[in-house]
Formats: sequence, C-alpha cells, structure tokens
Amino acid sequence: MASKTRKSLRKRVIRKQQRCGGACWSRRTAARLARLRELLRRHDRNCWEIGDLVGQLLAGHRISVSLLAQHTGYSKSRLSEFHLTAAAFRKDQRQGFTFQSSLLARRIQRRLGALEMDLLAIRREIREFGLTTLRQARAHFVRRLVQQQAASWGRKSATVLQATEGLIDRCHHADYRDVLPKLPDGSVKLFLADPPFGVYLHLPHGGYLSGRASTNGLRINCDNNSAKAALEVTTALFPLCLTKLAPGGCLVLFQPGCRPDRPEVLRAATENGWSCAYALTWAKTSKPTAAPGNCSEPYAVSSERILIFVRYGERLQWHEQGLSRSDVLVFESETHGASREMEQGVLRYGDVHMFQKPLALMEFLVRKHTFPQDLVVEPFACSGAGVVAAARLRRRWLYIESNLANFAWGSERVARSMASLSVATA
Ligand SMILES: C[S@@+](CC[C@H](N)C(=O)[O-])C[C@H]1O[C@@H](n2cnc3c(N)ncnc32)[C@H](O)[C@@H]1O
Repeated sequence: MASKTRKSLRKRVIRKQQRCGGACWSRRTAARLARLRELLRRHDRNCWEIGDLVGQLLAGHRISVSLLAQHTGYSKSRLSEFHLTAAAFRKDQRQGFTFQSSLLARRIQRRLGALEMDLLAIRREIREFGLTTLRQARAHFVRRLVQQQAASWGRKSATVLQATEGLIDRCHHADYRDVLPKLPDGSVKLFLADPPFGVYLHLPHGGYLSGRASTNGLRINCDNNSAKAALEVTTALFPLCLTKLAPGGCLVLFQPGCRPDRPEVLRAATENGWSCAYALTWAKTSKPTAAPGNCSEPYAVSSERILIFVRYGERLQWHEQGLSRSDVLVFESETHGASREMEQGVLRYGDVHMFQKPLALMEFLVRKHTFPQDLVVEPFACSGAGVVAAARLRRRWLYIESNLANFAWGSERVARSMASLSVATA
C-alpha cells in the first residue's frame, strides 16, 4: 500500500516537472544536474561520479529518465547504462578501475550471456589485456567463449567418437546413403557435401560434358550425374544427416553457380528440419575470365554456390576467429591451368578431377565450421579434398565415394597425404 502511494506521488512529481520543464526543481537537484551536465560535456570517461549522479537524480530526486535525457542531450539508454554500471560496483570495488572499463565489463556480460564469468573477472581481464573499445572487448571474449565451448565439446565428442571407431578416419567405397546410418546420432560436426549437380548438361543422353574434357586430361567420372539422380542424391542428404548432426554443426552444400538456387533442394531442406543460414559464392578465380569474344552463351560459369544449412531454429556457430567474413570466397580453381601443367609434365594426366575443390577452400570451410577433433564427413568425396583438409587441421574424417575409379584414385591421394602428415608429425 505504502509503495503504491510512493509510486503515485512520484508520478505526480514527474508530471509536474514535465509541465514546468524543470523550473520547480530544488536548488540541490538543479546543482546536481548542472554538475552532471558539466561532467558529460567534458567527456570524462573515468568518472564514477557520472553514474552516481544519474542514480541520485533518478531515485532521490524523482526525475524521469526522459526528462534527464532532454536536459543532458544523452539518450535514455546511455544514461541508464551509466547509472546501472555505478550501481553494480561498490565503492571498494572501484579502486584501481576506470569507469569506462567497468562499463565495458557490464556490456560484455549482458551481450555474452553464455560466458560463465562474473562481472569483476571480466573487468580484470579487460584491464589485463588493455581492451579499450567494445569492439576489441567483444572480439576477445567471443574468442574465449569459443574456446570454452570447444573444450566442453571436445569432452563430449571423445565419447561419441569412440562409438565410431572402425568407421571414421577411413575411406569407404560405398553409396553414402548406406554409410551415414551407421554413424552414432549427434556425432558429425560438418557435412562437406559436393554432390553431382546434373544441371550443366549439353548432351541428350545426360552426363557432364566440358568443351575441353576430351582433350584436357582431367578426370570426368561421376555417378548419379543425370539431372534426376543428382537431385535425388542431393535431397536425400537432409533426412539422413539431421540426426547425425552434432550440436553447433552444419551441412555445407555446394550447388551450381550461374543458376538460381534449386527450389526442390530448399524445399527438401525445410521439410526435413533444416534452414539455410547463409548462401555464399565461391569465385573460382580472382582474375576475370570468360572473354567476351569466346562465347556460345551470354554468361559463363565462373562461380559455385555454397549453401550453409543448420538445424531449424539454431544459429550458425562461430568457430575460428580472424577468418574472412565475406560471403564471396575467392579461391583459385585447381583445374585452371591443370591441362597446361599436364602437357609440361608437371602433373600426371588424370591426376586432377574436373570437379576437384581447391584444398585451400576446403581448409577455410573446415576452420570456419569445426574445432580440432570434430568429425568432418565428405559424402561425395572423389579427390578427397575435404578430408585431406580436415586431417591436416587435426579433425577426424570420413571419406565416402561410390564411383570405383574415383574411389581408387581419391583414396590413394588421401592415403598419400596421411602418410606425409604422419611423417611430418612423427
Ligand atoms: C562433384 S563430385 C565431388 C568432388 C569433390 N568435392 C572433390 O573435391 O574432388 C561428386 C562425386 O560424388 C560421387 N557420388 C555420386 N553419387 C554418390 C553417392 N550416392 N554416394 C557417394 N558418392 C557419390 C560421384 O561419383 C562424384 O565423384
């Protein structure tokens, strides 16, 4: 009852102040307000007094925050932030710390709720690392959060992965639809899926045909490359991968460039509990290609799409910091110039596949979406670029390829790079 009376009294006072624009303030209020304006004008970033004064004016003098904002030129949220920061630290906790670093600590605690650190510890770290802006502090603590999560995931994944011994860190000659069901639920952090596209068809009987394929010495073998089969193996990923996905994991799906994203694929994803968090473009070269005089069609393919799917309702987890955040990934294609190198004897004929992804691109994706020891699965592995990247970065891996010729060649490439890795680490 008493508090109700206090509240209505306070409202009445505030209304009166608003009517007279502050003319009814006592001398003490006016003096405090003047002092606050003075400190704010000086941009005194180390002044605990600012926070205390705002608190006193709001509580003791019953001034509304809107009126205070009107009289100081500072936003309501900023003024409340000053007051709440001062209120969060007792007098004895302020010694040796600036108001600014305490303010930063409060902001970090509010924004990164998952960070299991108390306010004083956050502030100590801000001082220790000399962080002065929100941007610096945020980057520092996000990195810390990611490390925390990596450590806890590492503990969990060790148990899950034990159940997959004999299956992982191996190459499988199989249809991926027969292998994935054998994996334990929640075990895969990243599906790196580069299925046949089946859309660049130039021959009536189907099958991929490049204008240069017969002469350039690249491999072109590919199963399920007719338009219908390619779509089927692509959409089958969604129901099969969902239960196998580890927390914070994702499915990275390569799709044709120079074409709209296929509605059938997006629909299958939605119907099976996925959402497309990001749609990226892989630009296959930094140099402009497709000379205008050289055309059979008005536009030429020089990119691929990379769709990133997460479990519906989840956000894409942030792993390694410091990598580019651009949605355009520029990585030189390994097939460009390969024919010339074959002619010169630098590469053996057939040692590059037409669909082979650059190792650097795969390494980028592995670093972006996994921590060391996480499991990376490549269901359409062919040359094994994805698993080679994973192994080099100390991730666990699984290679699956159904085409026998591609498997024989790709798994040998994987074995060679594993051997060189174990030599390097021995
Ligand atoms: C576009 S290529 C992948 C290229 C690979 N990313 C690389 O860097 O070498 C697609 C591969 O998937 C294989 N494939 C097609 N259907 C498959 C299936 N159901 N299971 C496993 N592999 C399959 C094809 O034989 C082909 O080698």
